[in-house]
Amino acid sequence: MALESILIDGPSRLQGDVHISGAKNAALPLMALTLLTDQPCTLRHIPKLHDIVSMSSILHSLGTQIHEDGSTLTLTTSAVDKTHAPYEDVRKMRASVLVLGPLLARTGKARVALPGGCAIGVRPIDLHLKAFESMGANIEIEDGDVVATLDQVKACTIVFDRVTVTGTINALMAASRGNAPVKLTNCATEPEVTQIAEILVAMGANIDGVGSNTMTIVGNKDIQGFDVTVIPDRIEAGTYMAAAAITQGDMILHHVCVEHLQSAIAKLQRMQVGVSILDDQTIRVVADQPLLPVDIQTAPYPGFPTDMQAQFVSLLTQVEGRSTVTETIFENRFMHVPELVRMGAQIRIKNSMLSISGRAPLKGAPVMATDLRASASLILAGLVAKGQTKVSRIYHLDRGYEKIEEKLAPLGAKIQRIKS
Ligand code: UD1
Repeated sequence: MALESILIDGPSRLQGDVHISGAKNAALPLMALTLLTDQPCTLRHIPKLHDIVSMSSILHSLGTQIHEDGSTLTLTTSAVDKTHAPYEDVRKMRASVLVLGPLLARTGKARVALPGGCAIGVRPIDLHLKAFESMGANIEIEDGDVVATLDQVKACTIVFDRVTVTGTINALMAASRGNAPVKLTNCATEPEVTQIAEILVAMGANIDGVGSNTMTIVGNKDIQGFDVTVIPDRIEAGTYMAAAAITQGDMILHHVCVEHLQSAIAKLQRMQVGVSILDDQTIRVVADQPLLPVDIQTAPYPGFPTDMQAQFVSLLTQVEGRSTVTETIFENRFMHVPELVRMGAQIRIKNSMLSISGRAPLKGAPVMATDLRASASLILAGLVAKGQTKVSRIYHLDRGYEKIEEKLAPLGAKIQRIKS
């Protein structure tokens, strides 16, 4: 596959309407969830992303039949043929570890490569494994793979040492066919976790405390298929809100979930960006006032999402005065900063905190994307930078943003995809 880049000629002001896609981080675990049952499961509003293709190919290799009709996928796993997700698959996408829980629940065994580190940090899965062990699983590490077996889920209380999104989901899925109560405390409450818990209930599991940080699940052997519409992608929505603000634009975002965007909305309003809630799925963002600096600290939901940090750093470079951004979730998530500095941004890093002095004029430059959200932050910077910005290695971007150039161009961005 030829490497592709995105070229942006700036500056431009974004104006118009944009439609937000289904959430990648809900779609991926929902796909893994279909391994739990032999019945067909229908998932609607699936975004067209590389990560979805990666998950489809892993599931296919395990025995899942996949039928695609536009943005609707129907997945049926009449029988699990294989219980091994090899390193070639897991390496491409860490979320592959989401097949561990359902494979254990359905077949009593799973072998999945350890994901290793990635650009934004070490990212171990020890908390997933500890949760499985508490339920009675036997876990060994062989040749870099997790080899897990689980005969019967036993009653237990699991205390997550840290809030983990996929760890919470994996634990729920592993417990979903057992008959003993599994209590999970210090759970993640991200909307994607809540959607998974709701669907598990629809499939026949019993869960107390859905949406809270303490859930007790009693599974059900006779777990059923489901039909679901994936929740809107709150990170994609936040990225477009930041794009409207950084270009002093006027944008209407359709198909969002306003409730999931509260922390981003609060920061934008504090910066003096106009955010109007037109209805619970539609937001208008207008930036026609001088913007004010703010301090942002990432935190588990309902705090400010780490996945929106990089995009807001770009935005804050264009705000008069000094802002700070503190990253508390991942230890190495400032890879976008040196690239933004090359474009003229004034940012200092001290440990996990950035100090941003605005508003430094940005100039177009060739820059390199290092991870998914860092790529989006470089696109935002390119929209306001004078001259041409070339963002290379955009395969990261294609993992998580559906047709970004096709969504930005009608809003007034001069943006195109080229073969490098
Ligand atoms: C998910 C999201 C990702 C987002 C992240 C934090 C998906 C597919 N991905 O990733 O986009 O950035 O939540 O909101 O939903 N940790 C451990 N041990 C573990 C698990 C996690 O130490 O076993 C640490 C991580 O290294 C990190 C923190 O806990 O520092 C939170 O990570 P976690 O919530 O698990 O992230 P993911 O679920 O991988």
